[in-house]
Amino acid sequence: MSSDTGATRNLTIDGARLWASLMEMARIGATAKGGVCRLALTDLDRESRDLFVRWCEQAGCSVRVDPMGNIFARRAGRDASLPPVATGSHLDSQPTGGRFDGVYGVLAGLEVIRTLNDHDVRTDAPVELVVWTDEEGARFPPAMVGSGVYAGVFDLAYGHSRQDLDGKRLGDELARIGYKGDAPMGQAFGAFFETHIEQGPILEAAGLSVGVVTGAQGTRWYDVVLTGAECHAGPTPMDRRRDALAAAGTLLARIYALAHDNPPHGRATVGEFRCYPGSRNTVPGRVELTVDLRHPDASVLETMHAGLGHACAAVAAATGVEVTRDLIWDSPPVAFDPGCVAAVRRGADLLGYSHMDVVSGAGHDAVYISRITPTAMVFIPCEDGISHNEVENATPEHVEAGANVLLHAMLDKAGV
Ligand code: HGY
Ligand code: MN
Ligand code: MN
Repeated sequence: MSSDTGATRNLTIDGARLWASLMEMARIGATAKGGVCRLALTDLDRESRDLFVRWCEQAGCSVRVDPMGNIFARRAGRDASLPPVATGSHLDSQPTGGRFDGVYGVLAGLEVIRTLNDHDVRTDAPVELVVWTDEEGARFPPAMVGSGVYAGVFDLAYGHSRQDLDGKRLGDELARIGYKGDAPMGQAFGAFFETHIEQGPILEAAGLSVGVVTGAQGTRWYDVVLTGAECHAGPTPMDRRRDALAAAGTLLARIYALAHDNPPHGRATVGEFRCYPGSRNTVPGRVELTVDLRHPDASVLETMHAGLGHACAAVAAATGVEVTRDLIWDSPPVAFDPGCVAAVRRGADLLGYSHMDVVSGAGHDAVYISRITPTAMVFIPCEDGISHNEVENATPEHVEAGANVLLHAMLDKAGV
């Protein structure tokens, strides 16, 4: 039974204001190609956090920060003893990120708060808006570290120990930008909703405005190192070489086969690739690469995991190059809370938005928060299904639709 009745049934957000906030935030870390580069805990991330906090305080929220730098903005409800109904996402981006990934979910939540203020709507439960630290894992792998520590998936020492390629520690960078707080962690919410662009082609291809997200696929990340031996590119006969790059070439083909052999949902990505010593007349002695495997079915993901192990062993045996595979992150497939999923669906129906159920291909903070709180997500289409790319784009109409669905899903759970 929805508690979003009477006066609030026809409530809608201010789409122009939301779009303006998105475009203002997109100026922080703006890139020449129209995207953003706002890596976690850089000065640009601090700048975006400071703007977010300022906006929340202007909207009358009380703001607190936890030891992982997660930011919580609370709008009081009638009954402070009730667990807050929360929403949020992330402000950190990929190196060649877009203007919507993460930040749309943060600012859609802010627009919900601004709309409740405009109409002087007092919810029963408090409403909270959260910015989770280091969702992307681009600078400090793995991904979703802030929400993962908050939900108890990782411990705080692990979270603070994450390092970037320059050896800087996540915990030290949090302190450096002034976002290492002491607010309590692990507290469940009454419900958690995350609004996000789909980052894939399904909704746009179906011509639909909203995705009712029922869950997310599983993801595993690996560090793979191939160790051969440097030698001279000229005098060394081919059969006397232990060429780490040649071995990597064979391995790459087998990595992509793991996805192609498990259609249509199998995914395999090698996103980072470093070759040492990096001199054109020295045979490479070391190659470091990352592997990202995904599938919605846990047993198939396990098969892909085993396949990667076999591929590494086979390449090592065939080339004499040592190949190590280190599983650094394992995020199993999740199913979101049926009650929260139904609230999202009701919100879309109430406002007459076309919608379909979808499983998220990307990981999101909602995945880890779903371990401690009833959770669901709201998707909107993005242009050509493209994300993690500076051309990432969404329409003002879809941006407004997703925020309206979020508004009513939250009212449904917060009570008015
Ligand atoms: O990797 C992901 O799916 C997310 O963008 N962190
Ligand atoms: Mn995201
Ligand atoms: Mn992302």
